[in-house]
Amino acid sequence: MKDLRQSVLKASGYHCPKRGEIDILKDVLLEIDDSGVITAVHQPEDSGYPSILNAARAGSRLSELPAGTWLIPGLVDLHVHAPQYPQLGLALDEPLEIWLNRYTFPMEARYADPDFARDRYRTLVEDLMANGTTTAAYFATIHEEATCILVDTCLEKGQRAVIGKVAMDNPDQCPDYYRDATAQDSLQGSRNIIDYIRSHPDNGPGMVQPAVTPRFIPSCSDETLEGLGRLAAETGAHVLTHCSESDWEHGYVLERHGMTDTESLDRFGLLGRRSILAHSVFLEPENMETIRNRQSAVAHCPLSNSYFGNAVFPLRAALEKGLHVGLGTDISGGPNASIFSEMRTAVSMSRLLESGTDPSRPPEERGAGREARIDFRDAFFMATAGGGIALDMPIGRLAPGCRFDAVAIDTRTAEGSIRIDEDRDEPEEILQKIIYTASRPNIARVWTDGILRNG
Ligand code: GUN
Ligand code: FE
Repeated sequence: MKDLRQSVLKASGYHCPKRGEIDILKDVLLEIDDSGVITAVHQPEDSGYPSILNAARAGSRLSELPAGTWLIPGLVDLHVHAPQYPQLGLALDEPLEIWLNRYTFPMEARYADPDFARDRYRTLVEDLMANGTTTAAYFATIHEEATCILVDTCLEKGQRAVIGKVAMDNPDQCPDYYRDATAQDSLQGSRNIIDYIRSHPDNGPGMVQPAVTPRFIPSCSDETLEGLGRLAAETGAHVLTHCSESDWEHGYVLERHGMTDTESLDRFGLLGRRSILAHSVFLEPENMETIRNRQSAVAHCPLSNSYFGNAVFPLRAALEKGLHVGLGTDISGGPNASIFSEMRTAVSMSRLLESGTDPSRPPEERGAGREARIDFRDAFFMATAGGGIALDMPIGRLAPGCRFDAVAIDTRTAEGSIRIDEDRDEPEEILQKIIYTASRPNIARVWTDGILRNG
């Protein structure tokens, strides 16, 4: 079962085309074309099913997942700082502004060395793919050469990605050793990476897409923010940035610009259909409306928020208002490289928001109440179809028109951590167990664009 292009896959699995609605696929036939797009999904009760099955078998174009192995869409990580992977799990005991200056900027500055970048980026992309992340939105560093190396690495490994050169030129907030020299340099470097990605000879189908990436408002001069807004409009590139992440960061923007991050990003033209706003913990109701109206997306990073956020993002409220929301690890602000783990944390953080945290208060005054809760179905949606919607890409569903980016979960391997009771567990319970208990040994195979990349 190497490549599935121009073939038929018989499989059982799950996807979640709409929030709250799990679609259980039982012994379906997925037809995949020669570019890796799903062209049809046939149910066993469909009239054409036997003939398609027989024709695929006769033409040696049939692949079949073994019993106990379930197909799910590839996972989407909307917020990764690629250069921070070497410090995963370190230095999480400081607030954001100290963590950035003391640990993170020195780490990122090392990517001036292309050999260092090549080595560390390879490990990152391999690990994320092995964890089932078929698409990632990456902040790189300020360095053009290292950012090109990240692009090359994703293309080589077959990971779908959005990648931006980080723009940061504000001398008040960025150290001399790690800063774009001028706004012009920030803008020209961002443009050069967009051109590099779009004209890359191995990127015909657009597996990697470019972003303009103002790190966050504190890092950038107004001239850079304005220029990047214009560049995004001119090129149609994605926008990756942070929004209202912590008390300090939110307060800094209020003081410097006299408005919230959302309002300020909006006036610079940085809120569009392809904008991904990491965190967005401190949103006023009007900010949520603006983000929804612009069809921008929030990258919810629950584990990172527990270290740096100072509050819990009102996820359920955002989803119910109709905002696009997906999940992000925020490597290395969040010390894990798995969207499975992020799904679990999203659920548990919503439960803390629901119940509250102060045992000295009576239960009815302690938390936000039942309407703050999300469940594993919402988490699965955000990790797959929701991520695809956020990125404006045909991914995250096992449906005609979508790229075949998928993960096969082996629930039977002894080395794994899923324990199914084959006699008792209902199909949706099996999905629930997969989401809550899967670990790397359970991730048996990973495909993007119909090509086996792992397993
Ligand atoms: N805000 C600006 N830069 C960063 C970063 O690298 N990580 C996080 N979590 N927030 C940021
Ligand atoms: Fe971040």
